[in-house]
Amino acid sequence: MSTVLERFHELGVIPVVVLEDAKDAEALGKALCDGGLPVAEVTFRTDAAEESIRIMASKFPDMLVGAGTVLTVEQARRAVAAGAKFIVSPGFNPKVVQYCVDNDIPVTPGIQTPTEIEMALECGLKVVKFFPAEAAGGLKMIKALAGPYVNTYFMPTGGISLENAPEYLKYNKIWAVGGSWIAKKDEIAAGRFEDIKVKAEEAAALVKMIRG
Ligand code: 3PG
Repeated sequence: MSTVLERFHELGVIPVVVLEDAKDAEALGKALCDGGLPVAEVTFRTDAAEESIRIMASKFPDMLVGAGTVLTVEQARRAVAAGAKFIVSPGFNPKVVQYCVDNDIPVTPGIQTPTEIEMALECGLKVVKFFPAEAAGGLKMIKALAGPYVNTYFMPTGGISLENAPEYLKYNKIWAVGGSWIAKKDEIAAGRFEDIKVKAEEAAALVKMIRG
């Protein structure tokens, strides 16, 4: 298992972030690191994603910076060139997954069905993203999916909050949870990094309380 996946498990919560302007990347990285949650999935939903990854990865070498919402091989390539240590996508894109597998880049594609889990297994993946978690049946659905796939672990994202994260984290098939609640797009744009730091601290404390 790759070091990146081990760190996902240790960290337990992965902030999913949207930066409209790369000038906010350093302050965001600092807030997350100072809050004890040195990890970010920077989504390729804005033009600032690539440069934000470059800034965060270079300013905070110990931080686990990766790319989310990666929909094409080209985006994956650009993300990795900018310093991304992992790739996340909302769905299972066979080309993106294969590119990552071939190049030893940790990848967690989104899945919702047994068929997609089997596609992930076929590619040698043990950890998949379950997206959009709450809308797709939440923990109940994950438990049902985990039945036959005994060696598959899940990273639910979509609708997770500080309030419902504990029920997910207590289940042993949950590798980590992801969510935007720690650093919301509007908070980043408004420069509310102290609030983000406090939420990072809360999330880190929650993981410590549940997993020790
Ligand atoms: C997303 O795609 O935006 C992420 O899965 C985060 O979802 P959330 O905003 O519900 O946490």
